[in-house]
Parts: sequence; C-alpha cells; structure tokens
Amino acid sequence: MFGELFRVVTFGESHGPAMGCVIDGCPAGLLLAKADIERELRRRRPGQGGASTARNETDEPEILSGVFKDKTLGTPIAIVVRNADHHSADYENLRDLYRPGHADRTWEDKYGIRDHRGGGRSSGRETLCRVAAGAVAKVLLTGYGIAIRAWVSSIAGLDMPEPEAPDFDFDEIERNPFRVPGREGAERALAKIAALKAEGDSAGGIVSCAVTGVPPGLGEPVFDKLDARLAAAILSLGACKGVEFGAGFAAARSRGSENNDIPVLAEGGAGRLSLSFKTNNAGGILGGISSGQRLEFKAAFKPTPSISKPQQTADRGGAVREMIIQGRHDVCVVPRAVPVVEAMTALVLADFVLLQRAARLV
Ligand SMILES: Cc1cc2nc3c(=O)[nH]c(=O)nc-3n(C[C@H](O)[C@H](O)[C@H](O)COP(=O)(O)O)c2cc1C
Repeated sequence: MFGELFRVVTFGESHGPAMGCVIDGCPAGLLLAKADIERELRRRRPGQGGASTARNETDEPEILSGVFKDKTLGTPIAIVVRNADHHSADYENLRDLYRPGHADRTWEDKYGIRDHRGGGRSSGRETLCRVAAGAVAKVLLTGYGIAIRAWVSSIAGLDMPEPEAPDFDFDEIERNPFRVPGREGAERALAKIAALKAEGDSAGGIVSCAVTGVPPGLGEPVFDKLDARLAAAILSLGACKGVEFGAGFAAARSRGSENNDIPVLAEGGAGRLSLSFKTNNAGGILGGISSGQRLEFKAAFKPTPSISKPQQTADRGGAVREMIIQGRHDVCVVPRAVPVVEAMTALVLADFVLLQRAARLV
C-alpha cells in the first residue's frame, strides 16, 4: 500500500488477464471522468514508435467502483485495464534463465516462484496502474492549482536544453515520441535510438520534473519529508537509479554562498505570504517542506535491461548459458517514464495536500 491518506495498491502481472489499482482515501465529491484516466494512460501506452516497445495495447480503463455519475463517492476507487496484446511464447526461454540487469533472479530468491511471462509484475507494464491512480490524484491537485510537468532532459547520452535555454520548447514535449523539449533534439534522439535498435542494444536517460502551484507547507519535517517521500516514490519505478532535487549532486561541489537561495519580498507583495527567492537551488523544498517555489527534480534511468544482443547468463542450475531475449522491449524507457514520474509525483502531493489540512488550525 502506497500513501498515508490517499492510499494506492496496484495489482496484475504483465501477461495475466488484467492490471489495475485500488485507491482508498480519495475524498468524495471530486469530479472525475473516465476520460481523465484515459488521457494519462494514452500518454504511457506502448506502440507509439520512438524508443517504445511495439506491444500494442489499447489500455482502455474500466472504473469498477468509487465513482457515480462522474463524481467520486469517497469509497475505494477500483480501476482495471485488460491485457490484450501479450505474446507469452516469446518469454518461454525465461523459465530457467535469468535476464542480466532484470529482476528475475531476485524475485525467485524472494518468493521461490515467479511468473516469467513478460517479467510478471516486475514488468514496466505495472506502471500503467500507477498512471491510472496518478490520473485521479492529478484531478484532485488541479483543484488546488497544482500542475505537474515532466519531460526527457537526456536520452541515450544526448543532453537536451534546460528550461532556461532559449531553445527549450515546452509545447514540443508532447509532440515528439521522445518527449524532449525541442524538435532538433527529437531528430538527434531518433537517429541515436534507431542505431541502438539496429544493434539490439538499449540506453538510459534522465526525466526532469517541474511542479507549479505547490503551496508552502507540504511535507513533514522529520521522517516523511517531501523530498524523502518523492525520492522513494520515484525510486520505486523499475530502472530508476537516482533522484536529485534542485542543484542536486552539483550542490555538493558548490559553496554555501553560491548555493543558498536568498529570500526576497515578491514583487508587489508585503508580509510573510509574499516571500520569494532569488534562486531555486533547493528545488522548492527546505527542511522537507515545500517553500512555495517551483518543485524541481530529476530522475536517472538505466538502460533497458532486456536487449536482443546475445548475452552471457546463468541458468537455474548455475550453468553458464548464452541468451537471446525475445519479446518487445523499450529501447529506452525514459519517454514512457515521463507520465509515470508525473503520476508518482501526483500521488505523493495529493497525500500531502490532504495531510496538510490536518496540520494546523489557522
Ligand atoms: C515505463 C517503463 C518501461 C519499462 N520497459 C521495460 C522493457 O520494455 N524491458 C525491460 O527489460 N525493462 C523495462 N523496464 C525496466 C524494468 O522494469 C526494470 O529494469 C526491472 O524491473 C529491474 O528493476 P531495476 O532496474 O529497478 O533493478 C521499464 C521500466 C519503466 C519504468
């Protein structure tokens, strides 16, 4: 179960009959249409070209409970999506072999049994459940004026313009299959990903995320810090290997006089509520609590482990074997990770927005 007040559980295996989520704790009276969930699922859907797997799923959600006449009831919201386009025969050789870089062996060590078809629940397909739940959280957050936007800032070693750069184009992100902020970058990514695909190899990348409209005060000051909870949420995604907030790891090499964000009075404002900062090296969080600035973080994803190049591995008996991975895989997961990062961010923020309502009387 993920979350404290806005709680989510996901279910389903990649090649089982269906995947889905149950959200418990979503307040009653939220206007929620099926289209809100469909829109987000469409953004994560496979088979969209670019760096994505060719698995072609329609990912049509069905709301089983918790919503009546497009309004939440305050009861558990169950959403299910049927799996249709799975080719389980492609995974037959995974019964006894462990894919390098994947979770086959660790799942087996843990449970003594695993669903080898499509990676079971360790598959990237599990993230659709998070996107469905995140879509509900996003609707809740929209009511508070909070907007989450993620994009690919680096793919296969190609760095894209940062938001301050003149060639950073926000509108371009959802127009190209790599979700990079510029057409020229998308063309470079296309050539690089096509070359990797031809070689049967894969690549990693970085997803950047920015959240506007976050009020000051979200996050708990000790264990459940906003950055700690967000980091845990993002690191819970397969292939995510690191998260940094604001200046992140670069802050470790800078001086206090360079890194401190200087508070100033916001233009036209007066008093405590109109405080602003000259810079945002903190990424919008101080002491685990949102400062009211733009929330900014980056997530690093490793190269997709399933590659079609022949690789050495070991079988159940410990014998050295050569393996060629069949099945349809993302050459790079980051373009499809964009809506998933947004979803996890939404789930954490929705939880903290609700918790904050109990934090003070005035
Ligand atoms: C959106 C998304 C899509 C993914 N697609 C694939 C894929 O097609 N093939 C694959 O081998 N891994 C894929 N992964 C990564 C695996 O799920 C992940 O590497 C694996 O579970 C092992 O976990 P770890 O890398 O976090 O240790 C994907 C991850 C995400 C977030």
